[in-house]
Amino acid sequence: KLSPFPRPAASEVASSLNLSHRPRRNRKAEWSRRLVRENVLTTNDLIWPLFVVEGASGRQPVNSMPGVERLSIAEVVKEAERAAVLNIPAIALFPYTDPSLRDPTGSESLNPHNLVNRAVREIKRAVPEIGVITDIALDPYTSHGHDGVMEGDRILNDETVALLAKQAVLQAEAGSDVIAPSDMMDGRVAAIREALDAAGFSDVQIMAYAAKYASAFYGPFRDAIGTSATLVGDKRTYQMDPANTNEAMREVALDLEEGADMIMVKPGMPYLDIVQRVKEAFAVPTFAYQVSGEYAMIQAAAQNGWIDGERAMMESLLAFKRAGADGILTYFAPRVAEKLKAQF
Ligand code: PBG
Repeated sequence: KLSPFPRPAASEVASSLNLSHRPRRNRKAEWSRRLVRENVLTTNDLIWPLFVVEGASGRQPVNSMPGVERLSIAEVVKEAERAAVLNIPAIALFPYTDPSLRDPTGSESLNPHNLVNRAVREIKRAVPEIGVITDIALDPYTSHGHDGVMEGDRILNDETVALLAKQAVLQAEAGSDVIAPSDMMDGRVAAIREALDAAGFSDVQIMAYAAKYASAFYGPFRDAIGTSATLVGDKRTYQMDPANTNEAMREVALDLEEGADMIMVKPGMPYLDIVQRVKEAFAVPTFAYQVSGEYAMIQAAAQNGWIDGERAMMESLLAFKRAGADGILTYFAPRVAEKLKAQF
């Protein structure tokens, strides 16, 4: 059948452009794309944050984080075992403290047998080979939901730092491998380092949430640890202004000077410029936290069929590697590890 618009034969258009550079050539086949690939995500890059809750309740869903649950100590031990099998290097623990135990100074944080310290002991007993990272801040324990001690409408810095240093020593005694201050008080890394060393824990590492922004993306996390309803005001007098970059450089420099072994940028994806600049300038182990709101956005869009959730998950994590991150804290960790395992 004769077309009214006959297409010219390929040979007649071959010389249409005289290009000496055709970047598409390297993309022409999967083997070639694999060969020129610049960054790769592996299970070694993953840190899995887990929420712990009291009691035998087992597993409670976190509504704003589909697929994430609060786990009893027994369940968290099982997940730690699963993480080890999946070759995930480390997990990070966050407690949901019973509201009856929360008070203005977060005194439950200094209970050697609090939820998180008991969980650490059980995990290290059952799965000694996995890295356990514990969070330093008062927010899971305070009745007002702030990371520090509150006086009127102020969050007291130095008084808080003294408590954080004690909290760190108790976590180290429980067996925590890495202390991760997420509170953003000034001088806390130095105080924690000094307290750990004095207590004989010179091998315990510090991963400092060095550049942590006052972000809307923490919303679902606050549901998970039960502070969204109680938080008084906001955290802008200690967490950073999302408008700033130079300030992040200063925070990182100070935390390194004070003895941080690793530093973190948080949130993750909206702050990849910070990750890149920090990694380039300091060349130290640099981590990014793909926070609860980032996880929730991907999950929600995927559940609605608006994006391909699997691909968005992998792409979002690869983006951290491209920016220079040495690792990523992500709620997707076990899913990604399963996927990576299936690929090889
Ligand atoms: C608080 C803390 C927060 C997160 C980790 N530690 C929230 C906050 O600062 O209010 C957020 C993690 C996430 O959103 O996934 N010390």
